[in-house]
Amino acid sequence: MSGRFITIEGIDGAGKSTHVEALAQRLRASGATVHVTREPGGTPVAEQLRELLLHTPMDALTEALVVFAARRDHVRAVIAPAVARGETVLCDRFSDASFAYQGGGRGVDAARLVQLEQWVHGELQPDLTLWLDLPAELAAQRRAAARAADRFEQQDLDFFARVRAAYAARCESSRGRIVRIDAALERDAVWRQIEAAVQARGW
Ligand code: TYD
Repeated sequence: MSGRFITIEGIDGAGKSTHVEALAQRLRASGATVHVTREPGGTPVAEQLRELLLHTPMDALTEALVVFAARRDHVRAVIAPAVARGETVLCDRFSDASFAYQGGGRGVDAARLVQLEQWVHGELQPDLTLWLDLPAELAAQRRAAARAADRFEQQDLDFFARVRAAYAARCESSRGRIVRIDAALERDAVWRQIEAAVQARGW
């Protein structure tokens, strides 16, 4: 029995958190047992690594190793067992974020990230990734109205433009795994696209 692994991605301010719970409800309504989780995080070890990542300066490769260390614990303890039980895991960010932020944003060589990905979860890939895409300028405006910025949210527009471009490149080469959602639209219109993507898979 194999469950489903769904991830949600996008630059900071794209509106992921608004839609995660609604999507969980929608999947539960069609009979799935759904675990909502996030990265970095999802286990006690990974949540501690998240705190470190968000608030302590470190170089780009160290960042990559930290996010993949957190991911290893999360995959081992939470994601893989739930999927093996036939359940649905809905994860706010996963490895695409490492290719986007550490790769595109910080300039870590993608080949190194591919090695880490293979090592940490070679067998396990998301069945569907919803990429909430919007321009860096618009995301910055939305973030300005929200909470205090962490180490990533303090980055400039160029950083987020690079992160966005890396997501776009991942989407292009994902052979349908990553579905682009136009997140510049109003909340209801964004939700309709998310629902359509899930429905298109018969879920
Ligand atoms: P985020 O989902 O934006 O948390 P919140 O909504 O609480 O701000 O994730 C936190 C940050 O972690 C985000 O700025 C992107 C960063 N991140 C990476 O740089 N690499 C990764 O692999 C992951 C999973 C996240």
